[in-house]
Amino acid sequence: MGRAWVKSRRRDPYYRRAKAEGYRSRAAFKLIQIDGRFDLIYERDVVVDLGAAPGGWSQVAKVLVGDEGRVVAVDRAGMQPIAGVDLWKGDLTDPAFLETLAAEVAPADVVISDMAPRLSGNKTLDHERSLGLARAALTAAERLLRPGGNFLCKAFQGEHLDDFRRAVQARFRTCRGHSPEASRKESREFYLVAKGFRGGLTPRPRAPGPAAGTAPPRPAGRAARGPRPGSATPPRTSAST
Ligand SMILES: C[S@@+](CC[C@H](N)C(=O)[O-])C[C@H]1O[C@@H](n2cnc3c(N)ncnc32)[C@H](O)[C@@H]1O
Repeated sequence: MGRAWVKSRRRDPYYRRAKAEGYRSRAAFKLIQIDGRFDLIYERDVVVDLGAAPGGWSQVAKVLVGDEGRVVAVDRAGMQPIAGVDLWKGDLTDPAFLETLAAEVAPADVVISDMAPRLSGNKTLDHERSLGLARAALTAAERLLRPGGNFLCKAFQGEHLDDFRRAVQARFRTCRGHSPEASRKESREFYLVAKGFRGGLTPRPRAPGPAAGTAPPRPAGRAARGPRPGSATPPRTSAST
């Protein structure tokens, strides 16, 4: 990384905000923006964060699910602990690792994947590697999600993205493509936001809510929306991505 890269990073408003607000990565703002628009994550949810390091998304997810929710952060790279977040180190493309994870964590309410390959600079190759990871994330979502669960997945744009999108559409009630404002303008990354998993495991029993008439109705099987990130301070570490 040269001086120009360091300078442009210092000028990046999301990088500066992440540092100022204690998020580990500028990517945290992508999840904040996507969740703000699509309502993916609810209080008390079990969220599995794939490709979690260094941890910005997991910090945001932990605020969203609250003390009674659970966030499981998975990455092939190691990451520093985050209070209240379970860390799993492993390769999501390894079926044995996925089975071990599923035995411990499923059923989950939400699977989010920001997995990305090491960039080669070759657009076609990077697109194909990214789609390989996106397919692994979809396989993991199918293994981990409860019926009705939500899925957020990153993929780089390119000629096979539509095939992947169709595969996601077939498995979820709705699937939308989205590019959050916090994505860098020059980036080819794209997010698929899928809600209402059509298959899957038995719903996890929920703690009883307030008596009828004391709270507004909630979507079936979901807890109320918790405090939004920004109203809580994540652990202070330095922003890196
Ligand atoms: C863009 S970073 C994620 C940033 C993160 N969402 C955040 O907010 O800090 C992509 C991550 O995907 C991880 N990754 C790539 N391939 C993976 C795989 N096969 N299994 C698990 N993690 C993987 C990388 O190690 C890297 O940490």
